[in-house]
Amino acid sequence: MHGIRPEERVIIALDVGTLDDAEKVVEATGERAAVYKIGSELFTRCGPAAVELVKTRGKEVFLDLKFHDIPNTVSRAVTAAVALGVKMLNVHAFGGAEMMRAAVEAARITGSGESPKVLAVTVLTSIDEVILAEDIGCRREVERQVVHLANLAARSGLDGVVASAKEIEVIRRNVGSDFLIVTPGIRPRWAAKGDQKRVTTPAEALRAGADYIVIGRPVTANDDPKEALERIIEEISG
Ligand code: C5P
Repeated sequence: MHGIRPEERVIIALDVGTLDDAEKVVEATGERAAVYKIGSELFTRCGPAAVELVKTRGKEVFLDLKFHDIPNTVSRAVTAAVALGVKMLNVHAFGGAEMMRAAVEAARITGSGESPKVLAVTVLTSIDEVILAEDIGCRREVERQVVHLANLAARSGLDGVVASAKEIEVIRRNVGSDFLIVTPGIRPRWAAKGDQKRVTTPAEALRAGADYIVIGRPVTANDDPKEALERIIEEISG
């Protein structure tokens, strides 16, 4: 991951519901942003046109649809994502090793160009010890389950994980440095927290070992998204 410019480490979350709004964000930030994250809302509303919109402006897409299904279905979904030309996509590690291997295999069988990075979501940050134990029936504490699933993802051939800043250190220690960590829940000191509870600044997350940081509202809901992004890039470049 060395040699990547600071601004290439920022992924802008396109958490909007229309192509017009997506276009406004890309227009406002495109000078400095290289990668945009398209999640369930925008993709469910607008479909592949959202990916197309970003790609035609020369930008890359992280398709955040968190696939979790039987291996054959996930494999076919990944093949469809590859056809869209996304740079990164993700699956739930809870789907197991066979499902993750199927995802990686499908990602690697690409026609031309670089195959997308396949990332795992381990334990969602909205899941705490009580939910993990009582609803899901998993007896491990959250951090141990995160490490367990990150290791499973690495052994299954995945390129990395999506993980909160507080999980970075333990994942690096247990899974190694050659594993991508993409971190959301980022808030510059000057931005509102919104519904995020445990937040980390962009510079802290990168110092802790994140390869990429995902930033949504601090940029997209700012009166001046371009200036907000400039400020973040300046902070992580210093
Ligand atoms: O606006 P904000 O910066 O909070 O957006 C963060 C993005 O990262 C959203 O798309 C959110 O769904 C996603 N995300 C997150 N926390 C996780 C996983 C994903 O905030 N644990």
